[in-house]
Amino acid sequence: MERVSDMPDDLEPGHPAWVSPATEPVAPGQAVNDYDGFAAAYTAETENDLMVEYGARSAITALAGDVTGRRILDAGCGAGPVSVALRDRGAVVTGIDASAGMLALARERLGDDVDLRVADLRDPLPFADSTFDDVVASLVLHYLADWGPALAEIRRVLRPGGRLIASVNHPFVEHLSQSPRHNYFATTSYTDAWTFDGRSFPLTFWRRPLQAMTTAFTDAGFRLSVVREPQPDPAARERFPDDFAAFSTKLSFLCFVVEAPPSAG
Ligand SMILES: C[S@@+](CC[C@H](N)C(=O)[O-])C[C@H]1O[C@@H](n2cnc3c(N)ncnc32)[C@H](O)[C@@H]1O
Repeated sequence: MERVSDMPDDLEPGHPAWVSPATEPVAPGQAVNDYDGFAAAYTAETENDLMVEYGARSAITALAGDVTGRRILDAGCGAGPVSVALRDRGAVVTGIDASAGMLALARERLGDDVDLRVADLRDPLPFADSTFDDVVASLVLHYLADWGPALAEIRRVLRPGGRLIASVNHPFVEHLSQSPRHNYFATTSYTDAWTFDGRSFPLTFWRRPLQAMTTAFTDAGFRLSVVREPQPDPAARERFPDDFAAFSTKLSFLCFVVEAPPSAG
């Protein structure tokens, strides 16, 4: 998997790109964020990826802690790597994703007894109030232009005192890796092209400053509990002897644990 974004250039004051960031062109008729189109390739490539698997996903399961018996919604579950880890640790997992192709891979991994549904986080969630003890959202919120409706729905389906554990692209990386740089304080989209097996797939991401993230959580009624900038799991050191040290000093993702307030009574 390759990303086309270049590493940072300095932006000259007054450069028009300050308010109009560079973005990859999308061919007419080409689908954006078409995870169905590269489900198997993405899944295979990230399965043992130092930053994704041993950074972001490991951080989510570590932050979840002891999940024995907890009812957990994996929102944007993809092919289910986090669901598998949580289920193997005793959680009762439900998964949703916008991509039927990713869910088909999750089904192969998780078997028929796990509730997996196609659902879009921008829409009302197909669950009753207070269904879950936790919601995990691994590397999915940055696809949403507006976190408000999704966070309101996540809070609704969480029981009082339940937790949302989420990881996103680190906003500082989003800022520094774009050329030319965008306005850090604006919530804006950019389209990147990921290449799998020689084919290019456009993905549109929404970057927002750190304060917009924390405000979105608190506006939705959550209490901020943990903010973490994950480094690779030490368990990966032997597997990645060449890269482990370098990646341990690099910003990549940002994780949050936020809590729904306990019930008044
Ligand atoms: C980077 S993958 C992460 C998948 C999985 N959480 C993981 O950690 O491997 C992003 C996933 O989010 C899903 N996704 C993107 N936008 C979504 C939306 N609006 N609603 C639900 N799922 C979405 C994609 O289909 C894809 O499976």
